[in-house]
Amino acid sequence: MSTVLIANPKGGSGKTTLATNLAGYFASRGRHVVLSDMDRQRSALQWLDRRPYKLPLIHGQDARGKHAISLSADWTIIDSPAGLRGEKLSNAVKEVDFVIVPMQASAFDIGATRDFLQLLQEEKAVRKGRTFVAVIGMRIDSRTRAAAGLQEFLTASGFPAVGNLRSAQVYALAAEQGASLFDIRPSQVQRDLQQWAPLLHWLVNNDKRLQK
Ligand SMILES: Nc1ncnc2c1ncn2[C@@H]1O[C@H](COP(=O)(O)OP(=O)(O)O)[C@@H](O)[C@H]1O
Ligand SMILES: [Mg+2]
Repeated sequence: MSTVLIANPKGGSGKTTLATNLAGYFASRGRHVVLSDMDRQRSALQWLDRRPYKLPLIHGQDARGKHAISLSADWTIIDSPAGLRGEKLSNAVKEVDFVIVPMQASAFDIGATRDFLQLLQEEKAVRKGRTFVAVIGMRIDSRTRAAAGLQEFLTASGFPAVGNLRSAQVYALAAEQGASLFDIRPSQVQRDLQQWAPLLHWLVNNDKRLQK
């Protein structure tokens, strides 16, 4: 039983995209997955409502206003609202195994995420190595100056950077259909699937350490 919190106080940073695709990944591997939604907007649960029954099953959990961990799941993926901070953030970080922070490369996003990473750094569970934190770049065009700026920022942040996901229409198309990239024929999304490898390795390898 492992739990992943997806968090960044900035709206539109890619939390729900990351949460739904990660849930889709573990479901595609035959794991028992709970997608837990702390956001009042219920975007993750609405995605689940659209999910065709023939795709691998993901269980939904309404966790509005609180964090929620499912004891029966192999993986609980928690999507969180914009603005998560303070006591709610501390309580959630304490209870999860992993925090993944999705962020875009603009100066606005870097500015908004800097304080948040600092807050995470100060959390006891993070300092003691009980909760693992990683950052992933979202909608990154690797040829841009902004992407280079993000890399520099992430290196200085002290948290592992577990890759960059490029901006691709397939994320919006899949979202409309209640699907993840892992539900689509791999030949159609090969390049995007490759970009998930560092994040998935990081999760699975650290999970093995936790289970020992
Ligand atoms: N890699 C990507 N490529 C293209 N669009 C993306 C990508 N990641 C996120 N998006 C889009 O960006 C918007 C905001 O993402 P979302 O996951 O809803 O952010 P949040 O949950 O943090 O508010 C959505 O329309 C989503 O489809
Ligand atoms: Mg969201």
